[in-house]
Amino acid sequence: MTTEPALSSAPALNRARQLEMYRRALRVMPGGTDSNFRAWGEDTIYVDRGQGGLVWDVDGNEFIDLRMGYGPVILGHGDERVDDYVNERMRKGVSFSLTSEDEVRTIELICELTGWVDQARMTVSGTEATMHAMRIARAYTGRNKIVKFEGQYHGVHDYALISVGPDDMSELGDADNPVRLTWGRGIPEQVADTIIPARYNNIEFLRRLFEREGDDIAAIIVEPVLGNAQGIMPEPGFHQAMRALTEEFGILLIFDEVKTGFRFAKGGAAEYFGITPDLGTYAKAMGNGYPAAAFGGRAEVMSVLPDKVSHGGTYAGNRVAAAAAVKTLEIIRDTDALETIRATGLRIQDGLREVLNPTGLPYHFTGHPSMFGIMFTDKVASEYRDWANTDHELYDAIAIAMQPRGAMPEPDSREPWFVCEAHAQGDIVDRVVTAFQGALGEALAARAQGHPQAEARGAMSHPAAG
Ligand SMILES: Cc1ncc(COP(=O)(O)O)c(C=O)c1O
Repeated sequence: MTTEPALSSAPALNRARQLEMYRRALRVMPGGTDSNFRAWGEDTIYVDRGQGGLVWDVDGNEFIDLRMGYGPVILGHGDERVDDYVNERMRKGVSFSLTSEDEVRTIELICELTGWVDQARMTVSGTEATMHAMRIARAYTGRNKIVKFEGQYHGVHDYALISVGPDDMSELGDADNPVRLTWGRGIPEQVADTIIPARYNNIEFLRRLFEREGDDIAAIIVEPVLGNAQGIMPEPGFHQAMRALTEEFGILLIFDEVKTGFRFAKGGAAEYFGITPDLGTYAKAMGNGYPAAAFGGRAEVMSVLPDKVSHGGTYAGNRVAAAAAVKTLEIIRDTDALETIRATGLRIQDGLREVLNPTGLPYHFTGHPSMFGIMFTDKVASEYRDWANTDHELYDAIAIAMQPRGAMPEPDSREPWFVCEAHAQGDIVDRVVTAFQGALGEALAARAQGHPQAEARGAMSHPAAG
């Protein structure tokens, strides 16, 4: 028996300028955007500005931003501490393809905060970071294959776009023998064949795989939580068992901390879960939205650079990114920003519980309070395939109905809510909860009246999967 929250009618959003811009952009940009993940048809959002935890579109609509650029903006939009430092440093010049002290400082901070990374290098994106980490693992071990988990996203290079996020789980193949499902066309079969999809939280699967093919496997790359599938958490002991198994078979462990790094803890998810990987990749939280990223690891593994492995990049370590990383990482090191973010995430969850509990709907929160998902199911999901059995249509309908109520989570349940330091300010938490309450009422009422639920249109739902 469920009790529905009171129905409140949704205020209409003015979208006139955005529709006009969409039509204009469509002529010159595929889908009207620079990324498939932002192409939401006529609902595509064209942004004007952000400040703190808020964002405004070009029609002047104001939202509490729960996407925060898919995670990077960990302190808040337009953070003066970071922006002022970047402004000061960039006046000295931006790109030299020479090395500045800001780059050295960035890597020193990564080593200090993680405690286990001995050496690292900067890249511009998380995609590059995972691509280089995979190459280093191959070079170091002399083996070709990389294991990745179903439902995990490691960027848009060919080696990463395997078994990422289909809606239909049958596309992933038999549970005991998953297929290498490429996301979109253009990925050579020979490349796909070097990637072995595995099932998260299934250590027995890994052991069988290693016994069969371990001699060919260079590394496992893992998002410590399924950050691109609602933040599904590892079962107790999973990471420890995986670490032990990789050591037994001489396989490297790559923690893809692009989302979790400098967010779950000052030392990232490796610190949070008490694991020492061999390689790590970082991006989002390290630059508060500026395009800073890095890969790094144990000195012995990294020693294949610079002589034996190619790595470079005209913009790698450019001044803007490096200065942003220095200041952001110093703030994370020297202040209680991460504690504020965690506490704010918990306050939001408390408010959502008060709304959800009286309805009798089965739900639970996934992930970390700073980056959490809401799953409508009574079964705790342990891998990507479980997501299919949740009521994600309800989630998507709520997320879409939150927008006209002034809060913007990703309208796809697979993408978590990202909390930033500035969300602690003013009445933001209350406004998020009120928007959620109204949206839940609307979604349940629409369902009760038999209306089709709004379709997900966020990051992982893009039909590029094809
Ligand atoms: C875990 C993970 N790895 C890698 C990437 C790719 O990073 P980027 O978008 O900066 O290329 C992402 C992006 O969402 C990510 O979540």
